[in-house]
Amino acid sequence: MPEIIDLLDKSRIKELLRQFSDAFGTSVILLDKNEDLLFTFPENMHHTDLMKEPVYLRDSIVGYVGIPKADNPPRSSLCFIGRNMTEIIGMGFEVDSLSGEVAKNYEELSLLRSLSTRLGAALNVDKICNELADEVMNFCPSKNVSILLRSDMLADTLSTSYIVGSKNLVPESRKTMLFTKVALGAYSSSASMMSLSTDRGLLKHAFDKKEPLTVCDVSADERFEGFTYPVSRLLIVPLIVEDSFIGAIVATDKLDGEEFFSTEIKLLFSIASYCAISIKKALLYDGIRSLLFSTAEAFSLTIEAKDVYTYGHSKRVSDIAAEIFKELGLPPEIINWIRLAALLHDIGKIGTPENILNKKGRLDIHEMDMVKQHPLSGAKMIEQIPMLRDLSQWILHHHERYDGSGYPSRLSGDSIPMPSRVIAIADVFDALTSDRSYRKAYTKGEALKIMRESLGKELDPVLFGYFEKIVSLLP
Ligand SMILES: [Fe+2]
Repeated sequence: MPEIIDLLDKSRIKELLRQFSDAFGTSVILLDKNEDLLFTFPENMHHTDLMKEPVYLRDSIVGYVGIPKADNPPRSSLCFIGRNMTEIIGMGFEVDSLSGEVAKNYEELSLLRSLSTRLGAALNVDKICNELADEVMNFCPSKNVSILLRSDMLADTLSTSYIVGSKNLVPESRKTMLFTKVALGAYSSSASMMSLSTDRGLLKHAFDKKEPLTVCDVSADERFEGFTYPVSRLLIVPLIVEDSFIGAIVATDKLDGEEFFSTEIKLLFSIASYCAISIKKALLYDGIRSLLFSTAEAFSLTIEAKDVYTYGHSKRVSDIAAEIFKELGLPPEIINWIRLAALLHDIGKIGTPENILNKKGRLDIHEMDMVKQHPLSGAKMIEQIPMLRDLSQWILHHHERYDGSGYPSRLSGDSIPMPSRVIAIADVFDALTSDRSYRKAYTKGEALKIMRESLGKELDPVLFGYFEKIVSLLP
């Protein structure tokens, strides 16, 4: 229970004593709950024998008001003063509590707002975990802050069984291990290597209780195990979505040396709940995207299987195009879509007769016209899938030439979609550096020489500059 002088401002107390003194024509004294003197009015007055009345806060005595018996006051005056002090202190305490509550709620809302603004509709697990770790570190500066995720949910270990929700296909051992996704702070390198089991120790306790767990001294807690870096104080906040655990926030040793306070823990739990939903959504999105990519890759390989000379061509074009776009500084989300478009750029060849695709000699005009249908056929196929509709235009124009002499629309320069111009560069490079029925593959140097001669005619010279920067990375 707080002291009475913590509940009211000193000048306010003195003013109240003065008012009571004026109203009842007597000296007034304020004592603490141990009946030690705090204030008197008039100041510095001496008193020996007092009538006292307790001052309460929520049924507990926090002090006394007193009047010297020598002043011979009526008892009712003292009761009035005591009751008034109790009411004033009670109101002040409630206002303080409400202000504190409002401030905490405001802080919580501000943090959630800041997180939601920064995460937006983020569908990238790394981004969400990094933002979450940053936020925890800013709010509660600690020696280490880690975000751990269940191993069967990490993007690089995603399985089809997770995507379709068939839990029995996921090995039990992978459901009970958490791996570090992000680690910040003094021990980030050792923390990033850490994995923890959820079926024992502190994590099990936190997960069983479905609430945060804090330990003030891990050396005295036999449940503490598995950490790869020095820890004294510890906070574990589980990441829970729809009653199932997807991971945990682990913060260790606040930099100010204090314990993790209940207000901080409550707030971090709110943030964790918000981020857990975002992480789950992003993981599902990753899973669907992986499935889409593996399906597209399998599809392109099936088409290319008709021709031994072009087998794997689309995958290589996709990898080269992605490298060019990385060099251009595009964000990973965009690069993934372009990678997919490159993977599917020749999908329209599914409608091109096999004897034409595999013809050893030159194609006649009629056969060439049939081959030239493949960008349009491919674009029409992709257009049928709403999620991939934007990609259809990039596929449609991948055989346009920079000087406007290409097909199907004879677009030129910047009017050709930029992804189509990049796919064209990757397409030509891979074709030149691959064996054909009528010639051996050109070396990388020979291919570059041939391509340089077509700049401004077939290929975009500016984008080719970016391609040249990454060409040394290519096999
Ligand atoms: Fe093509």
